[in-house]
Amino acid sequence: MPVAMSKKKSLATIQQPIAEEMRSFEGKFKETMSSDVPLLDKITYYIARRKGKQMRPMFVFLSAKLCGEVSESTYTAAAFIEMIHTATLVHDDVVDDSNERRGFFSINALWKNKIAVLVGDFILSRGMLIAIKRQEFRLLEIMSEAIERMSEGELLQIEKARRLDIEESIYYNIIKGKTASLFASACAAGVASTTKDESLIQKAKELGEQLGMAFQIKDDLFDYGTDAVGKPVGNDIKEKKMTLPLIFALNNAPRNTRRKIINIVKRNNNDPKKVAEVIEFVKGSGGLAYTQEVMYQYRQKAFDILATFPDSPARTSLKDLITFVTERKK
Ligand code: IPE
Ligand code: IPE
Ligand code: MG
Ligand code: MG
Repeated sequence: MPVAMSKKKSLATIQQPIAEEMRSFEGKFKETMSSDVPLLDKITYYIARRKGKQMRPMFVFLSAKLCGEVSESTYTAAAFIEMIHTATLVHDDVVDDSNERRGFFSINALWKNKIAVLVGDFILSRGMLIAIKRQEFRLLEIMSEAIERMSEGELLQIEKARRLDIEESIYYNIIKGKTASLFASACAAGVASTTKDESLIQKAKELGEQLGMAFQIKDDLFDYGTDAVGKPVGNDIKEKKMTLPLIFALNNAPRNTRRKIINIVKRNNNDPKKVAEVIEFVKGSGGLAYTQEVMYQYRQKAFDILATFPDSPARTSLKDLITFVTERKK
């Protein structure tokens, strides 16, 4: 049976089949980052208090339930993945020179880059150690691949920002690496925690990749909005990030307009008035509507893969969670 469009549901409703697991996960997660170094402990405490949406652990648990029973391995996967994600955000805010995260100051804003880099490394290694201590080598393999691809994606993005590349295919490559890889690993790790069937793990990975693409496209749309999403908006243009709305707008603009806009991104990217001009240009070009359409296409691909798994409450929740990814407000 195909998975059709689903009505938007709250996260609390979506989480119902894994409510117990998420509660238990949260309790454990906070403790995993403690340290005897007072400065480090203070900072990880600051981070743990400002939790995010915890979407990746949700995908881990729901994917596990898609194919079997949640086990100790599933919990390890969920904790590990949220730690990698957290470490990545700490580093990402250094890379993007961003001073707000989850509605508060970012780590680099409060403690400067040097400290943020080291804290990110600490959290990443803590995650690794949890998996190593529990002898979760398949999980380590799945996750290391995501970290590798994520770093490649972020670096490709920097390279393209310097050249102001406007090819759509390159944009997809970037977001596949920097974001979709972690969602792919979340779903793969969830399934791998319940079964050794590689074809199922592979299918879950593909599912995570498609919904991860939709996730980053939604995030890139936030940057063109004015809603409070807990982090700065308009930051992508400031960082010369060529995301899909802008790429579409440029590729459909007359040559002189294109040259003018590229020039602003290149030279006036720190001028809020000029950045606002670019945003208006993108909005006027239909770039946002096009981007949303592409996002829905990725969502549909995720739905199609999901439909090949047996029906269960976990599958229904996964469908709703994927819908949430594209309809969320932050
Ligand atoms: C932000 O991820 C980073 C991206 C990949 C866009 P989330 O939106 O999941 O961040 P939190 O954890 O909820 O803050
Ligand atoms: C997220 O990309 C990629 C990561 C690897 C964290 P963004 O740079 O768009 O994420 P936000 O907007 O800072 O959360
Ligand atoms: Mg960023
Ligand atoms: Mg972003």
